[in-house]
Amino acid sequence: MTTKSLSSFIRASLLMLVLAALTSACGGNHRNQPYYEAQEPSEFFEDGKSSRPLVPNTVAQGQLRDDAHLYTGKQNGEDVTTFPFPVTEAVVRRGQQQYNAHCLPCHGFTGEGNGMIVRRGYSKPTSYHQQQLRAQPHGHYFDVITNGWGAMPSYADQVQPRDRWAIIAYIRALQMSQGADVKTLPVEERQRLDNPPTPATEGEGGGE
Ligand code: HEC
Repeated sequence: MTTKSLSSFIRASLLMLVLAALTSACGGNHRNQPYYEAQEPSEFFEDGKSSRPLVPNTVAQGQLRDDAHLYTGKQNGEDVTTFPFPVTEAVVRRGQQQYNAHCLPCHGFTGEGNGMIVRRGYSKPTSYHQQQLRAQPHGHYFDVITNGWGAMPSYADQVQPRDRWAIIAYIRALQMSQGADVKTLPVEERQRLDNPPTPATEGEGGGE
C-alpha cells in the first residue's frame, strides 16, 4: 500500500467508526423512549394523558386557514361571486375529475340530477340548469359542498377546499354547455357540430 492509499484507508475507517457511533447512539435513544398507543395513559405528564393538547395560539404547518374567501366562500358574511384563484383549463379538468368522483352519482353527467343513485331511489337533486340555481353566487355552491343542503350530505371530508372550487368551475362549465349560443363557439367547433365525425368502428364488438 502506498502512503497515500494508506492514509485514505485510515480516513475511511475513521469515518466508518464515527458513523457507527452516531447511528448506535441514535438507535439507543429511540429504544429508551416510551412508546404509547393512541389515548394510552401516561405517568410522565401531570394530566396523566400521553396525547398532548395543541399549544395555545399555535397553528400546525399548512393549517392557517385565514383566507375566508378560499376556505368559507364568504366575505363579510356574504356568498362570494368570484373565485379565490384563477380558473385555468387545468382547474376545470381537475374539477371534472372530482365532480365525476363525488357528485356524478347523484347529479348525473350533465348536472340534471339523474345520477345512478337517484335512479335507484335517492331524492332527486335540483337540476343545475334551473335559472334559480344558475343565478346563485359561487359562494353558495361552496357552502352546499361544505355543509350539505337538505337531503344532500356534507362533502367537506371527501373534497378539499381547492377541489371544491375546481368542482364549482366545472359546474359553471356544465351550465354554460347547456345554455350556450352556437354563435359563440369557435369556428372549428361549429364545423365539428355541423359535420360530426362518422364513428367508423361503432357497433363492432361493442355489444351495446
Ligand atoms: C348522495 C347524493 C348526492 C351527492 C353525491 C351530491 N349531491 Fe348535491 N344534492 C343532492 C340532493 C338530493 C340535493 C337536493 C337537496 C334538497 O333540496 O333537499 C342536492 C342539491 C345540490 C345543490 C343545490 C342546492 C340548492 O341551492 O338548491 C348543489 C349546488 C349541489 N347539490 C352540489 C353538489 C356537489 C358539488 C356535489 C359533489 C361534491 C354533490 N352535490 C354531491 C344529492 C347529492
